[in-house]
Parts: sequence; C-alpha cells; structure tokens
Amino acid sequence: MMTIIVAMDENQAIGGNNQLLWHLPSDLKHFKKLTQNHVVIMGRKTYESLGKPLPNRTNVVITSNPKFKAVEDVIIHHSIKEALQFAKSKDDNPFIIGGGILYKETLNLVDNLEITLVETKIDQADTYFPSIDYSQWKKTKEEFHPMDEKHSYSFRFISFEKK
Ligand SMILES: NC(=O)c1ccc[n+]([C@@H]2O[C@H](COP(=O)([O-])OP(=O)(O)OC[C@H]3O[C@@H](n4cnc5c(N)ncnc54)[C@H](OP(=O)(O)O)[C@@H]3O)[C@@H](O)[C@H]2O)c1
Repeated sequence: MMTIIVAMDENQAIGGNNQLLWHLPSDLKHFKKLTQNHVVIMGRKTYESLGKPLPNRTNVVITSNPKFKAVEDVIIHHSIKEALQFAKSKDDNPFIIGGGILYKETLNLVDNLEITLVETKIDQADTYFPSIDYSQWKKTKEEFHPMDEKHSYSFRFISFEKK
C-alpha cells in the first residue's frame, strides 16, 4: 500500500514560491499523525522548502543531482523506481508528501489519497496537484473543519481509496 498526502485549494493549488499557501495548525497535526513513523518520500524542492528532515519519519528525497548533499539521516534516491523500492522494503504504507512534480509522477501508483481540501482559491500559487480522475477513486471519509481564530480558511480532510 502507498499513500499520497496533500493539502490543496479548490483549484488544486498546493504551493507558491516553494512554500505552502496557508498556515493551518490542525492540518499540520493531521499530517503528523498520519505520517508519524512512516517513510515519507519527497522531491528535492519540497525537502529544501522544509529545510530539515521531518522528525520520527524516514525521509527519502529524490533528486537527479548526483552531488546533492543533505543532512545525515536523509536518504537520497535518483529515481522514483529506486525510491519506491526502498520505501516499500521498509514500510507497508509509505507516504508521498510532494511536491507537484512528485505527485504527478506517483498519482497512478498509489492506493490512497489523503486530501486536505482548503476552501479557498489562492491567486499567488505556482504549483498544482495533477488532475484527478474521480471515477477511479472511492471516497471513504470526510471531515469538515470550520474557519476559526487559528485557521483563516475552512477545510475538509477527505480520504480516497483506489477503486
Ligand atoms: N500543499 C501540500 O500538501 C504540499 C506538499 C509538498 C510540497 N508543496 C509545495 O510544492 C512546491 C514544491 O513542488 P515542486 O513541484 O516545485 O517540486 P518537488 O516535486 O518538491 O521537487 C521537484 C524536484 O524533485 C526531483 N525529482 C522529481 N522527480 C524526479 C525523478 N523522477 N528523478 C529524479 N529527480 C526527481 C528533481 O530535483 P532536482 O532538480 O534536484 O533533480 C525535481 O526538480 C512548494 O511550493 C511546496 O511548498 C505543497
């Protein structure tokens, strides 16, 4: 089993200027809860945007640059195939955590989608989730969170399984 986890807006925007487009503490908690103790696979740009490996997870970074250096406890791979083989050998449910390029390359390979749908449309985005053919996915869960003093947007946690 393999899962994509992503937060996107209503236009499927996920990032701008190599950063996230919102600060939603409950979504960060949700992300942490789901990915804790798993292998997380990310593109080089997402790794640089995070600035450091995520604690309590095995961090795998994909780059084509043979000279790319990361801190000691990050595992580097130079192809999706290699990275996924490694991840599956270590974990029965690795997570693809972005960004746009990685999502595009793996959307057809994963069994589950954990989508946080942020109820807005951000103008300044430059990175998007690929288009989803919903006829191939079955919604298994949906949880609504209203806007509040800590969350500038309302959002939904939506889980999908491949049909
Ligand atoms: N909203 C969310 O849930 C979410 C999650 C994650 C990230 N993001 C956002 O997404 C944006 C970054 O996404 P992005 O699409 O620009 O970049 P990305 O997918 O994070 O990283 C792209 C890089 O990964 C490497 N790569 C990808 N596929 C490869 C392959 N098959 N073989 C070798 N290397 C490969 C390449 O690195 P090299 O150039 O080094 O070869 C490529 O330039 C940021 O704004 C970030 O904040 C949002």
